[in-house]
Amino acid sequence: MTDLSRPALPGALPDKRQVAASFSRAAGSYDSVAALQRAVGVSLLEQLPEDLQPSCWVDLGSGTGHFSRVLAERYASGNGVAVDIAEGMLRHARGVQGGARYHVAGDAERLPLRNASVDLLFSSLAVQWCSQFASVLGEARRVLRPGGVLAFSSLCVGTLDELRASWQAVDGMVHVNRFRRFEDYQQLCAASGLETLSLQRRAHVLHYPDVRSLTHELKALGAHNLNPGRPSGLTGRARMQGLLQAYEAFRQAEGLPATYQVVYGVMRKPLL
Ligand SMILES: C[S@@+](CC[C@H](N)C(=O)[O-])C[C@H]1O[C@@H](n2cnc3c(N)ncnc32)[C@H](O)[C@@H]1O
Repeated sequence: MTDLSRPALPGALPDKRQVAASFSRAAGSYDSVAALQRAVGVSLLEQLPEDLQPSCWVDLGSGTGHFSRVLAERYASGNGVAVDIAEGMLRHARGVQGGARYHVAGDAERLPLRNASVDLLFSSLAVQWCSQFASVLGEARRVLRPGGVLAFSSLCVGTLDELRASWQAVDGMVHVNRFRRFEDYQQLCAASGLETLSLQRRAHVLHYPDVRSLTHELKALGAHNLNPGRPSGLTGRARMQGLLQAYEAFRQAEGLPATYQVVYGVMRKPLL
């Protein structure tokens, strides 16, 4: 992810091949550490319009296919398509019973789907990896049928700030993925040509016994730092000690907090 809280930084866009490779590598471990991702996806499902009966739904950034299986159960008479940029994730999802009928490799910013062919585009915690959220919205508008719904969750500025601040105290380098501002989501949604049914930000705070549990989890999710400009190589013992010490300043009774600022959006393509 690149720094989306500031104007475009052409030299620092995320390398999608790296994003895909990182998630492909994480396909086997992802489900065991995805508690927050599960909670966010469930919350997004609860926000879908009740009267929705899609004959074609798409799980965009489907990962291991957990929510494709939930959508397939919920909309049993519809056809489901799982789209992900990571082939390893798609292979994993294909190997599990139930879920989407079709599994397609593709990029949320250039969807391999026909115009006006989709009734529900569901995307949980994937589009924070897209440098141009406007392109995702443009693609949603193109592939949705009139009246079709885009439901997305994403992450915004404020996410993993404790880790960011702790690294900052150690060496001032970019160790944590960067996120778009919530206000940018508001602006881009307002300019998208889709009707915003709801757009909100909610903080989810997880607690860890120690910093290593958090960083191991990020790696197992495939969501560790992929920023251009990230430090390469192993973290030296002294710097790691510095990090552990700095993070201790945030300790609460439940453990070390890691805050995720989650954006939830539900949008509808106008009928005309
Ligand atoms: C954090 S996982 C979420 C998976 C699933 N939606 C869930 O909630 O469990 C993010 C997924 O988005 C995919 N992804 C990242 N960038 C993408 C892009 N530009 N287009 C499509 N999928 C993308 C990743 O490969 C990964 O499988």
